Amino acid sequence: MQLANFKKVFFEELSDFYPDTEVQSFYFMLTQQFLGKSRLELALEPECEILEEQRNQFQDALDRLKIHEPIQHILERSEFFGLTFKVSKEVLIPRPETEELVSWILEDFSSEEKLIRILDIGSGSGCIPISLAKNLSSAEVHSWDVSAEALKIAEFNAKFNNLGVNFQLKDILETKDLEQEFDVIVSNPPYVRNLEKKEMHANVLNHEPALALYVDDKDPLIFHRKISELAAKNLKVGGSLYFEINQYLGAETLEIVRRFGFEAGLKKDIFGNDRMLRAIKKNEGAL
Ligand SMILES: C[S@@+](CC[C@H](N)C(=O)[O-])C[C@H]1O[C@@H](n2cnc3c(N)ncnc32)[C@H](O)[C@@H]1O
Repeated sequence: MQLANFKKVFFEELSDFYPDTEVQSFYFMLTQQFLGKSRLELALEPECEILEEQRNQFQDALDRLKIHEPIQHILERSEFFGLTFKVSKEVLIPRPETEELVSWILEDFSSEEKLIRILDIGSGSGCIPISLAKNLSSAEVHSWDVSAEALKIAEFNAKFNNLGVNFQLKDILETKDLEQEFDVIVSNPPYVRNLEKKEMHANVLNHEPALALYVDDKDPLIFHRKISELAAKNLKVGGSLYFEINQYLGAETLEIVRRFGFEAGLKKDIFGNDRMLRAIKKNEGAL
């Protein structure tokens, strides 16, 4: 079969589901993945033929896109901070906002020459700890998650990118003490309230892990509060706590960290939403 014939079907069938520019971007990601050909190579080969097996791969991708499966699940990978990460339905697909959080930490610590001990809470794909390990040569990076399936993916990603991160299976809500002192604690914990689900797209609602995303409407800052409490005990004096936060709860999240004695401020993401928080521990035993 000629690829051009499949292309016609692909664009026609997806036109009811996605804008044209997105369909185009999906198409070229898939041709790169299944045929190993770039957009330019395809333009030079208008009569490109595909095998039956490749036609089946494209058809399967088309069917999955029609039920709003994220393209990253179909490709089984995503890019974050210039690195490639394996992803599956067990882990959150790394988001650009989280790259901004990592950038903030790097701005603050990239000129540091002494050992920096970092703890990331909620590993997911491992995107935060692995990009910190890649870009901070003096860092010792730890990362914890309650999901054994997520940790398998995160461990795979650390090996794939040739970086060392100490991953551990831990439920942070059941943790009483971090058992060692850290210079930096970072977390992008679950923070989406059930009442916000109506703003979300089917690709997230139906295909990304609930464990990574949602919190109870009645206590949406449960993770930020618990992690602040642990950080107040186990961050070194002068150490920093970084959070990704719910854009609607900036003031409330700030209030929590300040209550634990931190000096803190918010930062907006590229869309102008309150998305990050940095808190600095000024005194011993801030509580
Ligand atoms: C919003 S995702 C963030 C994943 C990744 N850090 C990222 O930025 O893409 C939150 C992560 O927290 C983990 N998590 C949820 N509840 C947890 C708990 N009680 N203890 C530790 N990790 C938890 C989830 O499994 C998920 O991987």
